[in-house]
Amino acid sequence: MKQRLLFLGPPGAGKGTQAQRLAASHGLLHLSTGDLLRAEIQAGSELGRQVEAVMARGELVSDDLVLAIVRNRLEHHHQGWLLDGFPRNLAQAKALDQLLSELDQRIERVVLMELDDAVLIQRLLSRGRADDNEQVIRHRLEVYRQQTAPLIAHYRELGLLSAVEAAGSVEEIATRISALLLD
Ligand code: AP5
Repeated sequence: MKQRLLFLGPPGAGKGTQAQRLAASHGLLHLSTGDLLRAEIQAGSELGRQVEAVMARGELVSDDLVLAIVRNRLEHHHQGWLLDGFPRNLAQAKALDQLLSELDQRIERVVLMELDDAVLIQRLLSRGRADDNEQVIRHRLEVYRQQTAPLIAHYRELGLLSAVEAAGSVEEIATRISALLLD
């Protein structure tokens, strides 16, 4: 199975759910920038204080800050990994390409999870995280369309992109994803 993966898709598509499962079953590092940032908020760190309001509004936190977090994790991890929620814009994607070339590593597959807005919104409203109210969800979707969706063309041009229908049960979607990752 491919070992260096990136999960892309709108908020609520199920990236975190599927990434956690796949990482656990295949011994990959699950690197979720959202989870790491929320852990900083939870810990009451200076970094957490800097990002809390930005995340509550559904905006992206600064590229430099997120890149520092990712660099630190990948520099110390040479086995397989799964990036979830990063990169989030073209600047982050280019910085990731640069970092991976320094580390002599490369992305093996980008999985794009596709789902209708109505289902995404319903899933997120049922979850109820701090940034899961309807106004902020709609803003996160807008940020996704403007800043993150251009990565689809970027990775398609690199021949790395595979799209998966993200509707159905968690198990059904996991089976579809596994089929895309065979060597
Ligand atoms: P982040 O934590 O990355 O959130 P997100 O992209 O909005 O993604 P979600 O966690 O909402 O959705 P998901 O696709 O992971 O779905 P999940 O599996 O959780 O980012 C949050 C914020 O952090 C950003 O807005 C930004 O401020 C900041 N940030 C993070 N990374 C950044 C970066 N690189 N640069 C700058 N800023 C950054 O599932 C959602 C719900 O659906 C769950 O309740 C789940 O149980 C349920 N569910 C999942 N699959 C199914 C299914 N098949 N059927 C029914 N329910 C399902």
